[in-house]
Amino acid sequence: MPTVLAIETSCDETAAAVVRDRTILSNVVASQMELHATYGGVVPDLAARQHLEAINWVIAAAQEQSALAWQDLDGIAVTAAPGLIGALLIGVTAAKTLALIHRKPLIGIHHLEGHLCSAFLADRQLEPPFLCLLVSGGHSSLIVAHGYGHYELVGRTRDDAAGEAFDKVARLLGLGYPGGPAIDRLAQSGDRHAYRLPQGKIPDAPFDFSFSGLKTAVLRLKERLAATGEPLPTADIAASFQWTIAQALVNRAIACAQQYHMPHIVAVGGVAANSVLRHYLVERATQEQIQLTVAPLHLCTDNAAMIGCAGACTCPGGNAHTSP
Ligand code: KG4
Ligand code: ZN
Repeated sequence: MPTVLAIETSCDETAAAVVRDRTILSNVVASQMELHATYGGVVPDLAARQHLEAINWVIAAAQEQSALAWQDLDGIAVTAAPGLIGALLIGVTAAKTLALIHRKPLIGIHHLEGHLCSAFLADRQLEPPFLCLLVSGGHSSLIVAHGYGHYELVGRTRDDAAGEAFDKVARLLGLGYPGGPAIDRLAQSGDRHAYRLPQGKIPDAPFDFSFSGLKTAVLRLKERLAATGEPLPTADIAASFQWTIAQALVNRAIACAQQYHMPHIVAVGGVAANSVLRHYLVERATQEQIQLTVAPLHLCTDNAAMIGCAGACTCPGGNAHTSP
């Protein structure tokens, strides 16, 4: 069972973790959210500088909490792509340096494979094949995991990612950054059926997503309502928007699982933290008798434990080497 120190700095979280196979031994996340909230979104240069400030103590804290020494580690995993280049460089440079000094294998991990692997931390018995609904700030994808490291992208967004749509609509409604949690909170007091909004279906690609039309529809709705001079019903707008996205994601994931004969769906990524999406996924998966694994909240948004899990899988002795 490989044990890996993992580092994640692709966007606005400086994170380090120690993972043994599918067990988290430590998981430290230093969020930059407050810093970027001032600007209404992630500022790449500031993110890189902040990673530089935090990286050493975050790694030290993860190692200390794991109570392991360097000789107990089988490798160092790090998010190599995709992400903000200045931000990625900080994590990769730290990982390369540690790998060199301590003579450990360096394992570059694709950030999306990391998100997918958060499902293995959520369900330690989980085995491929399964369908992964990966919904984050930069991606909305349906991925068939045929085996460890053997993935097929069967659905993707044609424009905005789901998280991007949440963030942009939150900004339209004056809710600040990050938009997903703000909309999730406000929508609790709104009526999800107040407004009918487009789900962005693409006729010849039933498993692809398009959320830019939805975002524009919210903008037009806001303009129309603002013209009446009445206070803007932001909770109703947020609830209708959120319900539209949840339906688009969940119904397409269910149809996709059926088409590809996948008995199991896993949902991962920042948007999988959304409360309505989680409820609706459980409801529809139960109706259709599809098994479901949803990443726990603390593993939905960016963290290094998921990168460590992907790294442990790839290490000699990891699952990627033992699967048929
Ligand atoms: O996975 P993640 O942390 O970073 C990327 O890899 O992009 O996802 C961040 C995204 C942001 O767009 C954020 O608004 C969204 O996840 N998010 C949510 C919720 N929590 C975070 N979206 C909807 N509802 C939430 N509760
Ligand atoms: Zn992410």
